[in-house]
Amino acid sequence: MSHQSLMHPICEFLQWDSDFFSLRIGKAIPNRVDLDTMSQIKNWCKNESIDCLYFLSDADDPVTTHLLLHHQFDLVDTRMTLERDLIILPPFEPSTTLRLAHEEDIPQLKQIAKHSYHHTRYYFDGRFPVERCDDLYATWIERSCQGYADAVWVATEDSGAVQGFITCSIHEMQGEIGLLGVASKYSGRGIGHQLVMRALSWLQEKGVKSVKVVTQGRNIPAQRLYQRTGFLSHSLRHWYHYWQVK
Ligand SMILES: CC(C)(COP(=O)(O)OP(=O)(O)OC[C@H]1O[C@@H](n2cnc3c(N)ncnc32)[C@H](O)[C@@H]1OP(=O)(O)O)[C@@H](O)C(=O)NCCC(=O)NCCS
Repeated sequence: MSHQSLMHPICEFLQWDSDFFSLRIGKAIPNRVDLDTMSQIKNWCKNESIDCLYFLSDADDPVTTHLLLHHQFDLVDTRMTLERDLIILPPFEPSTTLRLAHEEDIPQLKQIAKHSYHHTRYYFDGRFPVERCDDLYATWIERSCQGYADAVWVATEDSGAVQGFITCSIHEMQGEIGLLGVASKYSGRGIGHQLVMRALSWLQEKGVKSVKVVTQGRNIPAQRLYQRTGFLSHSLRHWYHYWQVK
């Protein structure tokens, strides 16, 4: 390995993802490539015996897009980031119970998460086992409740049954919505809308001035929900997966 590549590694090995999927998974650091960086990336994959490399690409560089295509990188997701400022929020009267999640909610939250994220790149790719993808989101919501997120709000029925959840975090006074999910039997009743509004007011109460959320270009229901609650497009990138034939 050259001195240069030690200073500025071209890719990173993702230990958590690798352990989770029992594969060797890495991520490219740059968001654009030319012929030289592409050959560095492919050499890194070969040297590290990588099975799958994630590449998050800028959407506005034709050279990058052509090279990725030419080198058998598969387009698996359009990553949309939306943003909303929190200066003024419309008045909102919830019609369901909204509260912070308790530890006892976790089994129900995991059940919802397992069935909610079929729009994401892990499922779309087709090479990750579906049950592992389900488990990925179940693990994510569990970890969110255990401190990975700053707050997890849940919507519940009077019986206590959990209808849906939303996770929020604050990084350097920038708000983020992480996971949002509504159980399919409760969809189309405004639960998603109420969860987003609750998250927005919680972030506003914390003094946060703007909030971002990431969703998939193919996830039209989520985009409509965020648009209805005042979010605007912020940025767009593409996720590619490169599977190395060994
Ligand atoms: C996206 C998601 C959270 C929406 O949740 P939801 O509770 O169904 O959302 P809402 O009920 O607030 O809005 C859905 C639709 O029902 C409509 N609606 C809301 N309340 C309604 C009511 N009382 N009567 C009739 N329709 C209603 C909304 O206007 C909206 O219409 P649209 O499809 O034309 O946009 C849910 O589909 C989901 O969990 N999807 C999978 C996970 C996901 O994609 N999460 C977001 C990305 S991280």
